[in-house]
Amino acid sequence: MNFLELVKERKSVRKYLSHEIEQEKIEYIMECTRHAPSAVNRQPWKFLLIKDKEKQALLKQCYQAQWFNVSDCPYYLVILGDTSQSWKRRFDGKDHCDIDISIAMEHFCLAATEQQLGTCWVCAFDVDLFRKLFDLPENLYPVVMTPLGYPDKENGERTPRKDLSEVVEVV
Ligand SMILES: Cc1cc2nc3c(=O)[nH]c(=O)nc-3n(C[C@H](O)[C@H](O)[C@H](O)COP(=O)(O)O)c2cc1C
Repeated sequence: MNFLELVKERKSVRKYLSHEIEQEKIEYIMECTRHAPSAVNRQPWKFLLIKDKEKQALLKQCYQAQWFNVSDCPYYLVILGDTSQSWKRRFDGKDHCDIDISIAMEHFCLAATEQQLGTCWVCAFDVDLFRKLFDLPENLYPVVMTPLGYPDKENGERTPRKDLSEVVEVV
């Protein structure tokens, strides 16, 4: 599979099988994730892999979408941003934590796809509730989460993209 094929293979998976995931696959995906670039190489992240069913139930409290069925999926990833480590731009103070974490997250999703596993970016969750339930210190906050598991056959087709001519401008 070349890179374009991999990119096109990834799609949001919202229906999972409860099959266990091989430990080598978890290690491979996390290795791909930790090699992501970050501003000034600060690596301002913590990767919380949630396997414990009681903790998964806490996640469900923070994101109550119907499809988010924590009894189905073996693992969830939550990426925490560490604002005490992330780079802030001198000119306007912009914190690059979310950008760094987004890159790591997409490394995770693409590596998972290559290993025939499904993921789905989730940001529409209650961050304050998560902080409370998982007892996070002041400098850490959850940026994004995703299930990780073998996709059920019933997942739909990938969504369309804008045409290149609409989004690329050569000046
Ligand atoms: C930053 C971001 C946040 C997202 N948050 C959610 C979410 O909270 N819930 C959800 O079901 N999908 C979420 N998605 C998935 C998008 O809806 C999905 O990626 C988009 O529709 C394109 O479809 P595809 O992933 O199948 O290519 C999010 C995606 C991104 C990139």
